[in-house]
Amino acid sequence: MPTDFFGGISSVFKNKDMVQIDYVVDEDRIIGRDDELESLAQSLYPATNGSKPSNCLVYGKPGTGKSLSVKFITQRLKEKAKVNDYSVGIAYVDCSQSSSETDAVIRIAQQLNDPDVSGVRIPDTGLSTGQFYQRAWEAMDATLDVSIVILDEIDKHHSYDDLLMTLSRAGEANKLTNSSLGVIGISNKPRFTDKLNERTLSSLGERRHVFPPYTATQLKEILEARKDAFKEGVLEEGITARVAALSAREYGDARKAMDIFRYAGEIANETQSEVVKDEFIDEAFERAERDEILEIISTLPYHSTLVIQSVAALAADRNTEQEPVTTTEAYSLYKRKCSLEEISPLSERRVRDLLEEAEFLEIITRTTKAAGKAKGSRTTITLVDDPEKTLEACKLIEPDE
Ligand SMILES: Nc1ncnc2c1ncn2[C@@H]1O[C@H](COP(=O)(O)OP(=O)(O)OP(=O)(O)O)[C@@H](O)[C@H]1O
Ligand SMILES: [Mg+2]
Repeated sequence: MPTDFFGGISSVFKNKDMVQIDYVVDEDRIIGRDDELESLAQSLYPATNGSKPSNCLVYGKPGTGKSLSVKFITQRLKEKAKVNDYSVGIAYVDCSQSSSETDAVIRIAQQLNDPDVSGVRIPDTGLSTGQFYQRAWEAMDATLDVSIVILDEIDKHHSYDDLLMTLSRAGEANKLTNSSLGVIGISNKPRFTDKLNERTLSSLGERRHVFPPYTATQLKEILEARKDAFKEGVLEEGITARVAALSAREYGDARKAMDIFRYAGEIANETQSEVVKDEFIDEAFERAERDEILEIISTLPYHSTLVIQSVAALAADRNTEQEPVTTTEAYSLYKRKCSLEEISPLSERRVRDLLEEAEFLEIITRTTKAAGKAKGSRTTITLVDDPEKTLEACKLIEPDE
């Protein structure tokens, strides 16, 4: 008899996708966002009749349902427009995964183009940014009545000002002649608009939508509505309430709630428990916290990980605000780590660039002070998150290929 490798494996999940972050649920599982969905619908409504929707900015802390709500409402918008015989196209760009303005324009153009209808080809490379924009306008004009571009995590894009400026003013600037375009920018940085230039802000900030944190009760409801991700009867009594309470401790964060819920199930599977027990929740919470940091760091080149790991190791050792980590110390530990891993270290100057990037992503903050007469200046680094957790996250990252 051949070995049945899968026979001995069992899972507490019935449909694990339902507790993944990107899963777009139906309306009856979206809890406590009626006002936000209605106000988004108001802004986007003209598109159902083939007209230009308002540009929108959506803010709110992490895990307040921004991505879910925008994806859901734009999907509904598209369906509604179709009933009225108008074609609406949606392009979604996760800006934390997009490296440049050109890259973002290519992704947008490819999602909105139907080459069979437009006859426009959007190659992966080989054109200038301006030429890609030109192709994008041609594709939109020929394919759709209305294009909607969702720029999620917009503050994480290096060219957000240029991108937002060009896209939000495409109509006024007569880039599009035969169709219209609405932009939805999403950010979890409330102060993000401080960084935008006036003109971008005025064309983009037509409508602002602020998503407040959830209450513990709402979080519990959100989880209750996803219980069928699990098999019947595997959840121990009171699990959803415990997870909701933990996720509301800092502020009501549904992302954290969903992560803890999923991890609790994974821990049950790892320990071959048929039940998701209350005692798994603390460990699941730790993993969810670590994930938050990991998600940001994992988008960076491996050398950045080593630099951040060096800062974290020094900070964890010290554990006092009195004696902050200097760039010089971080650089010398980084070089030692490189030699241990048998890779050649980058120059101090390049490492400074990496630190600048890490500061942009709000992993660290830097302070420069005069170090005393004739000593020049001294730059110190502070981690935004807990050093131990940052360290743990860094250790999970593998070197680049
Ligand atoms: N009102 C809600 N009802 C049901 N599920 C929700 C609700 N709000 C959020 N969720 C779920 O919580 C998780 C996080 O939500 P979402 O990704 O939309 O948050 P976000 O505001 O975009 O956060 P971030 O700023 O971190 O990207 C997702 O799995 C989502 O499906
Ligand atoms: Mg989001």
